[in-house]
Amino acid sequence: MTTEDYRFAQPHFLGIAGLNRPEAESLLDLADDYVEQSRRTQKNSDKLRGLTQINLFFEPSTRTQSSFEIAGKRLGMDVINMALGTSSVAKGETLIDTAVTLNAMHPDLLVVRHSASGAAELLSQKVDCAVVNAGDGQHEHPTQALLDALTIRRALGSLDGLRIAICGDITHSRVARSNVALLNLLAAEVRLCGPPTLLPSDADRWGADVFHNMDEAVVGCDVVMVLRLQSERMDQAAIPSTREYFKFYGLDRNRLAKANPGALVMHPGPMNRGVEIDSDVADDPAISLVTKQVEMGVAVRMAVLDMLATTRMEAAK
Ligand code: NCD
Repeated sequence: MTTEDYRFAQPHFLGIAGLNRPEAESLLDLADDYVEQSRRTQKNSDKLRGLTQINLFFEPSTRTQSSFEIAGKRLGMDVINMALGTSSVAKGETLIDTAVTLNAMHPDLLVVRHSASGAAELLSQKVDCAVVNAGDGQHEHPTQALLDALTIRRALGSLDGLRIAICGDITHSRVARSNVALLNLLAAEVRLCGPPTLLPSDADRWGADVFHNMDEAVVGCDVVMVLRLQSERMDQAAIPSTREYFKFYGLDRNRLAKANPGALVMHPGPMNRGVEIDSDVADDPAISLVTKQVEMGVAVRMAVLDMLATTRMEAAK
C-alpha cells in the first residue's frame, strides 16, 4: 500500500463503532504487508522514526502490551511502557492527571488499556496526540477484532458469508463486542453463545443470533471463537462450577465435530484450559488459529499505529 491509499478519517482509534468497511479493509490490507515485514530477519523499518509512543496499561496485560511495543518498534518509534505499579497512579493520581502529565512530554501516540468503559475516549479529549484503545472495560477492544478478522481472512480467504460462533463469557467481553461489530461490517454471520448468566439480555440487538446451547450454536459454523471466563469482572459467581461449565460450554473435539468440516478454532487468550477450551483442540495446529492470532496482532497494531501517525503527519503538512 502507498500512503495515498491511507484513508483513515479519524484522529483516534477508539472502537470498531464508527469505522466503515473501506477503512477496516484498508487496515487489514496494510496489516498483510506488515505480516511480511515481521517474518523477515531484519524486521524494523524507520517508517515512523522520530515519533514517540507511550503504552499506558492500567490493567495487567501480557500479549496486548508486548504486541503494541513490538509493533511500535518495528515502525522505528521510541516506545515507552509506563510501569503503573510504581508510577504516581499508585499514589492516587487520576487517569486524567496522568494523561495530562504525559501529554506535556509530546508523545505522538498513546496506547491505553483501562478497566473503565469509555476511558480511552475520555483521554482522547484531554490530549493532543492520537489515542489507541487497547481495551476499555467491557466496551471495546478494536485491535483484537481486527487481528481476529485478519487471521480468518488469511485462513479462509474472505469473511463474506462465513458463519462464526463466539462462545463463552459474552457479558464481560470487550472482545465479543468489537468482534460482533467488525464481523457484521465484513458481512459475516455471527452467533453468540453462553449461559444466560453470561449473555446480556440485549445481545440479540447487537447483530448476532443468540444461543444458550453450544451444541446447537456450532452447527454449520466455519469458525468457533471461544472466550475466557473473566472471573475478575464478576461480582458474584455466574456459573455453578468450572467442571460443569466445561461440560456445557467447553470446546472439545466432540463438540467441534458438530461444526462444519474443517472448522477452525480461535481464542484471544489467555486461555483457561479445561474450563472453556480443551488443550486437545487449542494445541492442534491443523485446527487452532491461536498462535496465528498472536502473530497477526503485531501486524494489525503496526497498521493502526502507522495509519494514525501518517494521517496526522499528512494533516500537519
Ligand atoms: C482479552 C482482553 O483483555 O480483553 N485478552 C487480550 O487482549 N488478549 C480477553 C481476555 O482477557 O480474556
